[in-house]
Amino acid sequence: MAANTIFLCFCMVLLQMLTIPSIAVGNKPRFLDQVWKPKNHSPMDDPESKKDQGTTWAVLVAGSKGFYNYRHQADICHAYQILKKGGLKDENIVVFMYDDIANHELNPRSGVIINKPDGDDVYKGVPKDYTGEYATTENLFAVLLANKTALKGGSGKIVNSTSKDRIFIYYSDHGGPGVLGMPDDVYLYAEDFVDVLKKKRALGTYKEMVIYVEACESGSIFEGLLPQNLNIYVTTASNAHEDSYATYCPKMDPPAPKDFPCLGDLYSVAWMEDSESHNLKKETIAQQYKKVKERTSNNHTYEFGSHVMAYGNKNVHSQKLYLYQGYNPATENFPPKDADFPVHMDVVDQRSADLYFLRYRYNGMEDGSAGKAKLLEQITNMEHYREHLDKSMDTIGASLFGRAKGSSVLSHVRAPGLPVVDDWDCLKSLVRVFEAHCGSLTQYGMKHMRAFANICNSKVNQSAMEGATKAACNGHELGQ
Ligand SMILES: *[C@@H]1O[C@H](CO)[C@@H](O)[C@H](O)[C@H]1NC(C)=O
Ligand SMILES: *[C@@H]1O[C@H](CO)[C@@H](O)[C@H](O)[C@H]1NC(C)=O
Ligand SMILES: *[C@@H]1O[C@H](CO)[C@@H](O)[C@H](O)[C@H]1NC(C)=O
Ligand SMILES: *[C@@H]1O[C@H](CO)[C@@H](O)[C@H](O)[C@H]1NC(C)=O
Repeated sequence: MAANTIFLCFCMVLLQMLTIPSIAVGNKPRFLDQVWKPKNHSPMDDPESKKDQGTTWAVLVAGSKGFYNYRHQADICHAYQILKKGGLKDENIVVFMYDDIANHELNPRSGVIINKPDGDDVYKGVPKDYTGEYATTENLFAVLLANKTALKGGSGKIVNSTSKDRIFIYYSDHGGPGVLGMPDDVYLYAEDFVDVLKKKRALGTYKEMVIYVEACESGSIFEGLLPQNLNIYVTTASNAHEDSYATYCPKMDPPAPKDFPCLGDLYSVAWMEDSESHNLKKETIAQQYKKVKERTSNNHTYEFGSHVMAYGNKNVHSQKLYLYQGYNPATENFPPKDADFPVHMDVVDQRSADLYFLRYRYNGMEDGSAGKAKLLEQITNMEHYREHLDKSMDTIGASLFGRAKGSSVLSHVRAPGLPVVDDWDCLKSLVRVFEAHCGSLTQYGMKHMRAFANICNSKVNQSAMEGATKAACNGHELGQ
């Protein structure tokens, strides 16, 4: 029914760099003492110390599935091509993608994925490490922590990094306050992710890390959660309380070719098109951040653009991009003269992009055809299910906090620097309670994570939540 057509947005990238002087490996406390002293210059810039440079690892994650979500996997495949041209080896790039796009029956160019209207195929050569049912949060964490025994399925590739290595993580999908989507609909919770980063830090198996994340509310994954001392620098497509945006969509400026859904996401194409048009041995991470922030603002109209945010250790941002994304010799004299990007691009918010594509298809179909009627049913079901989710939340809010206060409590945005919720177990349990009585939250419903978080922050206990949820969804047919 409607659930498979509903989605969420998300993305992230992470990179790391650390230089480690020759130290006794295996002596962890000593290692940690030495590694984290701030240094004035980066040996990476010094050709003499090339041998200490270590390896760059990358983890690329597309969190969605379904043809309407084409763009997230397109983003990830495109990122792979940039890293590959930059000299990273396949053995050091781990890809998570559902892999249902290239050969999808609706794909107008079978076997090919593009990430911009006149773009080349970005699908060719992409390693299929964790696809289908194996593209899970659990496997992602196991890969990052290089824990082979925790892996279920997939290629078995892990981030087998050392203390000299840098790590770049890039994620693209739907998200919500405190969560990122994954194709199996088991969300990745911010606190769990940050815990994995802390564990990785404790293992001493990276020098520095850079993470880029595209998703709605992606700032909420790190806001008030990511410590400064992990040598991790993060940028996110949006702040903790706004959507991120899909672009290169049908009938937009610039338009996707006929019969394609949205091809990319605003923040994602901004960083990738910037990387492709610059010499990454010269450009710093901070310079890219500034340009991506500018472009993602969409000509400063934040209504159709979002606030790119930076978190974590800002010492990392003065480093050169090639340390995380590699260096393509063909870019030596870049940027080319005509490298200006549009200051404005048409967009649709992540949570509406699926309906946008369905309506586009509907309008292109022959009146009175069976296909058109079926599509209308699909669109209607999807709209009804979203209404059901929204109304159920309203009813729960009213029953817990009163008609007058309900919606303001549920939509409350905490001050900057505070995480979206204090008790993450409470958040997870409220999601379970809701889904048991009201049906799957789906990717669209991730937007209600703030409401669940605020219910937890208000110290409502589980039995009160259970009562309110049952009353709101009593009689609702599950199975979405
Ligand atoms: C690896 O994962 C397994 C299974 O989840 C777990 O029991 C084990 O403690 C983990 N090992 C490390 C070093 O974290
Ligand atoms: C990890 O890398 C080390 C060398 O740094 C190698 O000896 C080891 O076999 C690798 N482990 C895996 C699981 O690939
Ligand atoms: C950007 O915004 C400015 C000021 O509102 C406007 O004059 C200009 O036309 C816009 N440019 C584009 C390409 O939309
Ligand atoms: C839960 O909260 C409700 C309403 O505040 C209260 O009446 C009830 O006793 C609480 N239950 C538990 C188990 O704490």
